[in-house]
Amino acid sequence: MADFKAKYGSWAMVAGASEGLGAAFAEALAKRGLNLILIARRLDKLEALARKLKEIYRVEIQVYTLDLSDFVAVKKTHRLHGKAIGLLVYNAAYAPIGYFENISEESLEQIVDVNVKAPLLLSKLVSKQMIDRKKGGIVLMSSLAGTQGSPKIATYAASKAFNSILAEGLWNELKKHDIDVLASCAGAISTPGYKNAQNTKDAPGTLSAKQVAEDTLNALGKGPTTIPGMTNKLAQFFMNRIFPRKWAISIMDKNTKDLS
Ligand SMILES: NC(=O)c1ccc[n+]([C@@H]2O[C@H](COP(=O)([O-])OP(=O)(O)OC[C@H]3O[C@@H](n4cnc5c(N)ncnc54)[C@H](OP(=O)(O)O)[C@@H]3O)[C@@H](O)[C@H]2O)c1
Repeated sequence: MADFKAKYGSWAMVAGASEGLGAAFAEALAKRGLNLILIARRLDKLEALARKLKEIYRVEIQVYTLDLSDFVAVKKTHRLHGKAIGLLVYNAAYAPIGYFENISEESLEQIVDVNVKAPLLLSKLVSKQMIDRKKGGIVLMSSLAGTQGSPKIATYAASKAFNSILAEGLWNELKKHDIDVLASCAGAISTPGYKNAQNTKDAPGTLSAKQVAEDTLNALGKGPTTIPGMTNKLAQFFMNRIFPRKWAISIMDKNTKDLS
């Protein structure tokens, strides 16, 4: 755990930290002794989390209420903060559920802004400083939904594919600067967001947010991609290596049809 702080530096930023997996990442990083910059839109949740983590782990925490779709505001906050960010965890996502014909243009733009533009530009901002310091880490939250076409969440899934591929490229480019980059391709996670969307019982292999956060941070520095959980690793193997592409998409169709 102490190694973790030495390797990445003393400040980590979690973008999308107010609940669910983002809050679990914040706790896992505080446990490793890192000070935190927490970003989300809901101040009350961020402040409650910051109070709890400060009390238990005695770390410094700064909270910022920001809409990550507003990149001008994100850039301003990044400058305001002034501290070197050693580790970025981009966790926020916007995932409207519905068939493409029923998703508004505004929603489609919001998916691109929150899930594609913000992680891309934040990675650019933080990696600049990391290159100068010759150390750092970037975690981009992706999803198994992004490993094949996923009906009813088609654009969200495509945005997650973007993050996986970006992370793989950056993993290779930035390793010469001692910067670790990782895409975490999670299966179902028991978070408020997932519970709201899931109308039936949890999907097989559903993990807790705590386990996904721990597995992901433990995988940082060991390769470009991780898939938390054995059931999910197996599912990914069959879906993307064994089954024909059309089967994989049909299986996703069956899995997503009850989402709302
Ligand atoms: N849950 C799953 O089953 C699952 C499966 C695979 C991958 N993932 C990935 O794991 C990550 C976390 O999932 P989750 O289920 O924990 O999501 P969630 O419950 O929807 O939480 C997302 C977090 O991001 C913040 N956020 C969302 N939009 C934002 C915006 N425009 N500006 C600032 N903050 C924003 C939310 O806080 P505010 O609302 O306070 O802003 C919240 O803290 C996502 O990247 C998701 O794609 C999740």
